[in-house]
Amino acid sequence: GGRTKIAELLQSTPAGSEVTAKGWVRTKRGNKNVAFIALNDGSIIHNIQIVVDVNKFDDELLKRITTGACIRVTGTLVESQGSGQRVEIQAGDIEVYGSADPDTYPLQKKGHSMEFLREIAYLRPRTNTFGAVLRIRHAMAYAIHKYFNDRGFYYLHTPLITGSDAEGAGAMFQVTTLDLNNVPKDSEGHVDYSEDFFGKPCNLTVSGQLEGELGALALSQIYTFGPTFRAENSNTPRHLAEFWMIEPEVAFYELEDNMELAEDFLKYLIRYALDNCKDDLEFLTKMFDAELIDRLKFVVENDFVRLDYTEGIKILMESGAKFEYPVSWGLDLQSEHERYLVEKHFKKPVILINYPKEIKAFYMKQNADGKTVRAMDVLFPKIGEIIGGSQREEDYNKLRTRVAELGIPEKDIWWYLDTRRWGSAPHSGFGLGFERLLLFVTGMGNIRDVIPFPRTPKNADF
Ligand code: 4AD
Ligand code: MG
Repeated sequence: GGRTKIAELLQSTPAGSEVTAKGWVRTKRGNKNVAFIALNDGSIIHNIQIVVDVNKFDDELLKRITTGACIRVTGTLVESQGSGQRVEIQAGDIEVYGSADPDTYPLQKKGHSMEFLREIAYLRPRTNTFGAVLRIRHAMAYAIHKYFNDRGFYYLHTPLITGSDAEGAGAMFQVTTLDLNNVPKDSEGHVDYSEDFFGKPCNLTVSGQLEGELGALALSQIYTFGPTFRAENSNTPRHLAEFWMIEPEVAFYELEDNMELAEDFLKYLIRYALDNCKDDLEFLTKMFDAELIDRLKFVVENDFVRLDYTEGIKILMESGAKFEYPVSWGLDLQSEHERYLVEKHFKKPVILINYPKEIKAFYMKQNADGKTVRAMDVLFPKIGEIIGGSQREEDYNKLRTRVAELGIPEKDIWWYLDTRRWGSAPHSGFGLGFERLLLFVTGMGNIRDVIPFPRTPKNADF
């Protein structure tokens, strides 16, 4: 203990106070009489300036104060003449907790590339950019819980280890205690799971939705918020192998209600960032993306477009645009198509609904046309799909038929089907990719830069 946060020193501590600050040195400059240290402790993007009368301090101590070192400074908070801040600290006493050898510390000079910073992901929270991103990430997580709590949703904890594949996409990480060098086989040559911890094939969850539905069919409105895992080998700026997902699920909601919730939720979160993360957003706007704050305001202030998939396909086909993947009805939209609709055609977020059933998951409610389901994807500028959701099939026979058509083993999913046997109800929900939201809110260009420790193909070191 025994310190005042730099945010508090800069914003509210009266000049004239005796104070202690602790943090990491960003820069030190000066001359033979006076040194200026820029100190940061992560509580705010700004550094506090420490003014050091060089003649009052031991040379050896001052030499150890280099970029990256961690120090304690006790002194007087005084009004600042030139540092660009309200106040600075006139150092009375300095202690070095940990030095940082300038010959080896990687974060020496300013302006490292994002690629380089990814290679030293264990140190990058000490940069201004990642400080800003991580504070915004925290603020968004808090706002998510606040949004749902204020509206009477319950936070449901769904398992990370499961025997089911919610999305049926097959991109799962297996979980087993069997010895990979000596896998037991049964008489027919199949893997024998009787020696396995769970006694059956299990995987890391791709979505908490199926368990979330069980919660909604008892508590009426729930949400999940946790890590989800996809082993899809997509090396793109928008995919992670481990990402966080927020999945509200609401009994008695139809697709229309679901769309309203999604739009209101996204606008709330973005407004929360504008209101509560000003300094960090201003920094990111200045450094990376001049339109960032304007883009956030635009989304908050304008209605999302609601559009049938079939209409969307028509617009794309008549656009005359050259796409890498040609467009026809039945196509699973690529991000180039999604971004065309959002950025070029409507210039607004779009909620696309009623997709062909073949390209969507088994649990979605079928429309009367026999061809489409009550799916909805929310498409955002610069991102493409930020939310995927649907009204769920609540009819036992229809759901069971669809499960059989798709060859999903009933032994894996009987408990889910059972919810439609007893007290079934119309219900809907969606999943918001937390890092996709953060890409939008921070303006970062790569999803690896909005999560502290990104998990991507061939990358799980730190
Ligand atoms: O569209 P998805 O696959 O939908 C579901 O998982 C449903 N069970 C959600 C529900 O209805 N409860 O994923 C939902 C969202 C996507 O829109 C996207 O934002 C994000 O999760 N997402 C990813 N984010 C980062 N990396 C990946 N590999 C992602 N895959 C999906
Ligand atoms: Mg999706």
